Amino acid sequence: MTQILIVYATDYGNTRKLAETIAAGARSVADTEVVIKTAEEAKAEDLQAADALILGSPVHMGSMDWRVKKFIDTVCSAFWMQNTAVGKVGAVFATGSGYGNVGAGAELTLLSMLNNLAELGMVLVPLPKSTEGYAKSGLQWGAYARSAGENLEQTGVSDESLVAVRHHGAHVARVAAALKGQPIFG
Ligand SMILES: Cc1cc2nc3c(=O)[nH]c(=O)nc-3n(C[C@H](O)[C@H](O)[C@H](O)COP(=O)(O)O)c2cc1C
Repeated sequence: MTQILIVYATDYGNTRKLAETIAAGARSVADTEVVIKTAEEAKAEDLQAADALILGSPVHMGSMDWRVKKFIDTVCSAFWMQNTAVGKVGAVFATGSGYGNVGAGAELTLLSMLNNLAELGMVLVPLPKSTEGYAKSGLQWGAYARSAGENLEQTGVSDESLVAVRHHGAHVARVAAALKGQPIFG
């Protein structure tokens, strides 16, 4: 059984919707068990038991939510010190709604979370542009969906933007299953 841990923060539920969609995608892969926790709930034993960690955050002023960073600094840091997350699989997702089409800070948010997962020695899973639905919610770094229109009208994340998000979960579950028990780092 492959264990996937999804850790996220949310204020308005949009990032939770992505977390649940990623969980559904991961569960579509045989022999996969998923645990979803908020960044405030997740504990060291959750990460200890996991073969993969998928971290999600809303974009806040161009960077990750402080609760996600707190999880990294207070829970993941011991794994970093002891090299005990080396070889686990890591991936990220985010939601945002900055003015305009792009969303200020989306890439920085995804990249800074990936950077922390790389620090942990994790095997990082990107979101290939060949993924179904990528044009609606893909960034190569991971799944990303807007929760508002160009003028910040609150729309919530669209169903079409969740297609690639679901695939992201399945991708991570397959990579984690393939690597489970493999001594890949010297
Ligand atoms: C304090 C704050 C700062 C934000 N800063 C940004 C930002 O810099 N860029 C962006 O695209 N969205 C920004 N947003 C919008 C949120 O990222 C967006 O609404 C997100 O989908 C909220 O996720 P949630 O529903 O999970 O809380 C900000 C929201 C808040 C509350």
